[in-house]
Amino acid sequence: MSGKNVTEVVLADAAGIARAARILESGGLVAVPTETVYGLAARADSAEAVARIYAAKGRPDFNPLIVHVRGVEQAERYAEFSPEARALAAAHWPGPLTLVLPRRADAGLAGAVTAGLPTIALRAPAHPVMQALLERCGFPLAAPSANRSGFISPTTPAHVLASLDARIDMVLDGGATSAGVESTIVAVRADGSVEELRPGPIALGTQGRGGGIEAPGQLASHYAPGKPVRLNAEWAEPDEFLIGFGAVEGDITLSVSGNLDEAAARLYAALHEGARAAAPRIAVAPVPEVGVGRAINDRLRRAAA
Ligand code: TXA
Ligand code: MG
Repeated sequence: MSGKNVTEVVLADAAGIARAARILESGGLVAVPTETVYGLAARADSAEAVARIYAAKGRPDFNPLIVHVRGVEQAERYAEFSPEARALAAAHWPGPLTLVLPRRADAGLAGAVTAGLPTIALRAPAHPVMQALLERCGFPLAAPSANRSGFISPTTPAHVLASLDARIDMVLDGGATSAGVESTIVAVRADGSVEELRPGPIALGTQGRGGGIEAPGQLASHYAPGKPVRLNAEWAEPDEFLIGFGAVEGDITLSVSGNLDEAAARLYAALHEGARAAAPRIAVAPVPEVGVGRAINDRLRRAAA
């Protein structure tokens, strides 16, 4: 990254949050910290503001956005909550769980938010900065991850600037995010069944990937560092930047002790480093397919695709 940033990075204190709220109110774009990754927020009730998200990211218009709310009460204005959906929200909100639910006909949000689908994705984030911002704004915030479409997701303000500098109005700096991978997405169907669309920090355990239905944005190639990625590597070839895990020590190691939460929190920073490194290729050590390891491997497979 060059030394001079055009997009202003503002500390997320009370004054910074108030400024972010004013920009959002007038239809601007602000990158905001959540407990998972930085989101690129715009008011979800404005077609112009939402259109700016798609333009800044270069995001295909068939890929709908997650709408962030303060909690269930606000969410019920936009979606039909079955008893099963209400139970999931009660158990996991605020937190890294996104619920895909039938959209209410009178939701009154920008059509592009849901990309024409009869459903809507809703999440109440746990990050105190995002909560304060939602409280101050009053309106809900559409927010995909704050990266150019297809590129590595951001867990720091510097990662946001690496792909969106000069394309957005402001970055609200809340430091590095903690969970590191995007929210778990589940669809709650009319019959009450729950289907996982994207693995994430919350492992609900019971359901698998049923009929092959996925979140439309889960493209095979995603989170791409711009160079080849080799998975399940026990060692590095001479031209590879190695991302280690546990006993496999790398140029950077996701978790020396083999802790999956720590590995998830550091995953995107490691991929960003690999992207910047001189080595023309990236190799990644094996990560166990349990708990949040499923989310890590899901993202790594797409980074390698
Ligand atoms: O943790 C997160 O979820 C972060 C933070 C910022 O909240 N957001 C995030 O947004 O990961 P994004 O846009 O990168 O991923 C949202 C995913 C996409 O794969 C999209 O296709 C899917 O959610 N999605 C949105 N609305 C949907 C719907 N109605 N039905 C199925 N999938 C939907
Ligand atoms: Mg994303």
